[in-house]
Amino acid sequence: MALVTTKEMFKKAFEGKYAIGAFNINNMEIIQGVVNAAAKLNSAVILQVSKSALAYAGPKYLMAMVNAAIEETGIDIAVHLDHGPDLETVKKVIDAGFTSVMFDGSHFEYEENVAKTKEVVDYAHSKGVVVEAELGMLAGVEDDVNVAAEHATYTDPDQAVDFIKRTGVDSLAIAIGTSHGAYKFKGEAKLRFDILENITAKLEAEGIHNFPIVLHGASSVDQNCVKTCNDFGGKIDGASGIPNDMLRKASSMAVCKINMDTDLRLAMTAGIRKFFGENPSAFDPRGYLGISRELIQKLVEDKIENVLGSKDSMK
Ligand code: G3H
Ligand code: 13P
Ligand code: ZN
Repeated sequence: MALVTTKEMFKKAFEGKYAIGAFNINNMEIIQGVVNAAAKLNSAVILQVSKSALAYAGPKYLMAMVNAAIEETGIDIAVHLDHGPDLETVKKVIDAGFTSVMFDGSHFEYEENVAKTKEVVDYAHSKGVVVEAELGMLAGVEDDVNVAAEHATYTDPDQAVDFIKRTGVDSLAIAIGTSHGAYKFKGEAKLRFDILENITAKLEAEGIHNFPIVLHGASSVDQNCVKTCNDFGGKIDGASGIPNDMLRKASSMAVCKINMDTDLRLAMTAGIRKFFGENPSAFDPRGYLGISRELIQKLVEDKIENVLGSKDSMK
């Protein structure tokens, strides 16, 4: 019934072989859609905020809405900085009341990533805030970082163990074939579960038990949703995501946090396009934003029940 860190959430998720959904928030309708779903299914949830979301909505507005969501629903919510670029941003969001931060140093050379992550961990831990870091490089676009597929690199398991030991980080985002955005695979979807397994085994061998792993770029890009967008004037051709059964498998392994943003964007856009296609004379924002809020709630309910397995994690 509170604003919490992800520590306890991940402990329960690892033991229960499920994952907590981390949904990117940018406005009130997205927040309400996500938390209404979580409250209905008694699930803990992570609301995450990117640098561009911070610039768009402002930390004060976002935190005020998150606090209202906690008061209204009574569920456990962690507020997390997604892809934090530097210590300055980390300090800003901790002051605003965030309970968890990601420092993304994955585009730096290894030693620099270690040093910068360690600096963030020391600061955040002194404030009671937990830290996620990233090792290996996902393809795709996030904020101003654009990684072409040929420059993406899988996470090296030995390096992951060294990184976790040296930085003291609380969770680690790894690259096993997921990518940001709506165009994840040209051909067949493939994730390197062997790397995930290997990381967990090597950590266990070092005495590091139940260490939570994070999957970014994990939207499933529902084809019905893409079709609705395209049927009503959109042009999102060839979009594809991570199949739900792969996400379910990852949730039952060491993956305790699954990041989804693209799926929310697509649901919202499909709802709004369809609404205007069918109601060309409408212009009340509550009409189209209300529909998109309902679609987001439906989407998140489906994720909690059928992909993450986090239903009733609040019990
Ligand atoms: O990983 C990136 C997220 O989808 C956030 O995207 O920077 O456009 O808010 P954004
Ligand atoms: P998607 O683009 O697959 O939704 O990934 C979002 C993400 O990883 C946010 O950090
Ligand atoms: Zn991400």
